[in-house]
Amino acid sequence: MFVTFEGVEGSGKSTQIGLVRQWLASLGREALVTRQPGGCALGLELRRILLDARNTHLDSTAELFMYLADRAQHVAEVIRPALDAGRDVLCDRYHDSTVAYQGFGRGLDVERLVALGRMATGGLAPHATILLDLPPETGLTRARGRNQAVGASQSEGRFEALELDFHQRVREGFLELARREPGRFAVVHAAGSPEDVFARVRAALEAHLS
Ligand code: TYD
Repeated sequence: MFVTFEGVEGSGKSTQIGLVRQWLASLGREALVTRQPGGCALGLELRRILLDARNTHLDSTAELFMYLADRAQHVAEVIRPALDAGRDVLCDRYHDSTVAYQGFGRGLDVERLVALGRMATGGLAPHATILLDLPPETGLTRARGRNQAVGASQSEGRFEALELDFHQRVREGFLELARREPGRFAVVHAAGSPEDVFARVRAALEAHLS
């Protein structure tokens, strides 16, 4: 099973992915946990460029193609081989992030991005996508607190520095994608304790798995 996790900054994806991994392990399923950008060697180089807050000059289209290059390599090198070997794959962000951030956020043409996604992934769609939905104000406060804890200057991403309006559009974009594909998406309310949110994530995945 191929499950992706999406949401605005600070929506708690990595915490929930860790909990899902543990839950699957308790069922005897050792999932591969990975992320975009940065789930392979090429992706790590691209991630460094993409998230460096000093790169204020990046053109939106140049940025787009770096996310797509990361995705194409990561699918070919990591995700497909794992799925072919029968493993579950849990991926922190996937093409929905490109449509939400570069499309709804930056303003690139959404339908064109959907088509480019099919090209980058070779048509590999997730079986289920957990959208951790949260008001961006709450997520950004969490994300900035986390950045401060690890040293803001190097780790503050380019996106976390953008205005609230941008993150509002990203959130709405994700919700629109979820409305378009209700069979794939589960929209999970991401406020509350990690355990409370996980109970909702698990219920959603159980429903998808059955
Ligand atoms: P990351 O540190 O993984 O953010 P988070 O912890 O919030 O998931 O950084 C990924 C950043 O890149 C995040 O701000 C969203 C952005 N992004 C895009 O703009 N487009 C994409 O296709 C992807 C995968 C991520």
